[in-house]
Amino acid sequence: MKNNSFFLIITFCIITLSCSYTSEKDLIEQINPTELITYSEKIKPIFDSNCISCHSSPPINGSGISLTTYNSVKSSIENTNLIDRINWQPGQSGFMPLGGSRLPQNLIDLIIQWQLEGFIE
Ligand code: HEC
Repeated sequence: MKNNSFFLIITFCIITLSCSYTSEKDLIEQINPTELITYSEKIKPIFDSNCISCHSSPPINGSGISLTTYNSVKSSIENTNLIDRINWQPGQSGFMPLGGSRLPQNLIDLIIQWQLEGFIE
């Protein structure tokens, strides 16, 4: 009888402990962060380092539009084919960044994903 209740207590402890450890749901969240892409954190730096040497405010080198703010970038994606231009190959007419090399694919994908998620600021 004494032995039996000892066994029960141990079993109870094991169950309680295993429940307090990381659940499967927590693990999935760690592997697949559902963190959304924001302009200020992820998108602005891409434009700052690749585009604003011409698309400054005001725009220079005949670039026509400025890409220094959330609104200007969003508007260019919606109205002036920004995604197409960075997706083209260097040398194709209209390719951006003009005279530069194509952005790494993961950055292009990030901008496309940002658009799909509804341009979070
Ligand atoms: C070396 C200068 C330069 C750089 C760097 C540059 N651009 Fe441009 N961009 C231009 C010029 C010049 C034009 C106007 C000629 C044209 O439409 O192709 C232009 C036009 C554009 C347009 C069309 C604007 C309109 O009014 O229709 C978009 C969109 C654009 N660029 C996006 C970008 C993006 C995104 C980057 C960075 C990845 C970038 N550009 C980097 C020079 C540049």
